[in-house]
Amino acid sequence: MQDLDIAVELRTALRRLAKAVVVITAMHDGRRYAMAATAVSELSMDPPSILICVNQSASLHSPLDAGAPFCVNILDAAQRTIAERCSGAIKGEDRFGEGEWELASAGPPMLKGAQAAIVCRNETSVVFGTHRIFIGQVVDIRVGDLADPLVYVDGRYTRCA
Ligand SMILES: Cc1cc2nc3c(=O)[nH]c(=O)nc-3n(C[C@H](O)[C@H](O)[C@H](O)COP(=O)(O)O)c2cc1C
Repeated sequence: MQDLDIAVELRTALRRLAKAVVVITAMHDGRRYAMAATAVSELSMDPPSILICVNQSASLHSPLDAGAPFCVNILDAAQRTIAERCSGAIKGEDRFGEGEWELASAGPPMLKGAQAAIVCRNETSVVFGTHRIFIGQVVDIRVGDLADPLVYVDGRYTRCA
C-alpha cells in the first residue's frame, strides 16, 4: 500500500477511535490561546504526566514551543459549542467569548464547568511529521462532579452517558 492510501485508510480507521474532546489553552506574552483537540493521552503517574499532539501550523503551537504552560480542559457534553468555537473560523481571544474562564496560578486559562482541567508545566517536546508532541508534568487539577464528557466519534460530537 502507498503512503497516501495508508493515510486515507488511517483517517477512516481513526473515525472509530472515540475520544473525549478537550480544549488546550495557554497564556503567553499576555495573550490567551485555545484549541480543540482529541490527540491527548495519559503518560505516566510517576511523574504525573500527560502528552498532547499539536499541529505545527496551529496558532497554539508557537506559545507552546516557547515553553508556555498549558491546561487540558476536558469538555462537558454541554460544552459542544465551545469545541466548535475553538476549532474553526473564530480565532485568537474571541475563542474565549463563550464559557467562564479563569487563569490557573501556573498561567493557562481553566474552563469552569469542564469535566476536568489538568494544568501542566511544559516539560519537553518532540516533532514527528506535521505535529509536535508536548509532554506536560501535571501541577494542578480540577475535577467536576458528574462524568458526562463530550465525545468525538465517526466525525461527530456525541456523549456516552
Ligand atoms: C474534534 C477535533 C479534534 C481536534 N484535535 C486536534 C489535535 O489533537 N491536534 C491538533 O493540532 N488539532 C486538532 N484539531 C484541529 C484544531 O482544533 C484546529 O485546526 C485549530 O483550532 C486551528 O488552528 P488555529 O488556532 O491556527 O486556527 C481538532 C479539531 C477538532 C474539531
